[in-house]
Amino acid sequence: MHILFVCLGNICRSPTAEAVFRHRVEAQGLAERIFVDSAGTGGWHVGKAPDARTCAAGARRGYRLSHLRARQFESADFQRFDLILAMDRANLEHLEALRPEGASAQLDLFLRRYELSVDEVPDPYYGGPEGFERVIDLIEQGSERLLDDVRRVL
Ligand code: 4NP
Repeated sequence: MHILFVCLGNICRSPTAEAVFRHRVEAQGLAERIFVDSAGTGGWHVGKAPDARTCAAGARRGYRLSHLRARQFESADFQRFDLILAMDRANLEHLEALRPEGASAQLDLFLRRYELSVDEVPDPYYGGPEGFERVIDLIEQGSERLLDDVRRVL
């Protein structure tokens, strides 16, 4: 099973989702069966490590992010991945516009799949530190549910 998380810059939300979800996958001994990656719809930060505020927020909860490097989503990702999860509606609309006819990947809004308080992970980039905490809170909640779902179909 190949799962891709997508946000705008691939330096805040989607690398956080990649690290948090992978952490849970590894903790359950499923790393051989579930491949996890992330990408951004925009290309401004390609090759860069996650934002320092994202790395700091992750480190406070035991997630290592600084080795990750941003990449831009490409249409071939629709063939490489089984499930592509967008962080917000703008990301989802961007991906829908790129989606080739007959693409096999399932595309969805990450948190819409669960009964949480919100269905988007808000962009923290231009806000304060509390936004980065909120990102991890939501992603931890979503990741737990996502892994429950994925385990059922493995
Ligand atoms: P992300 O956050 O989409 O969660 O990685 C952002 C990162 C960079 C920008 C916007 C959002 N930016 O405008 O450069």
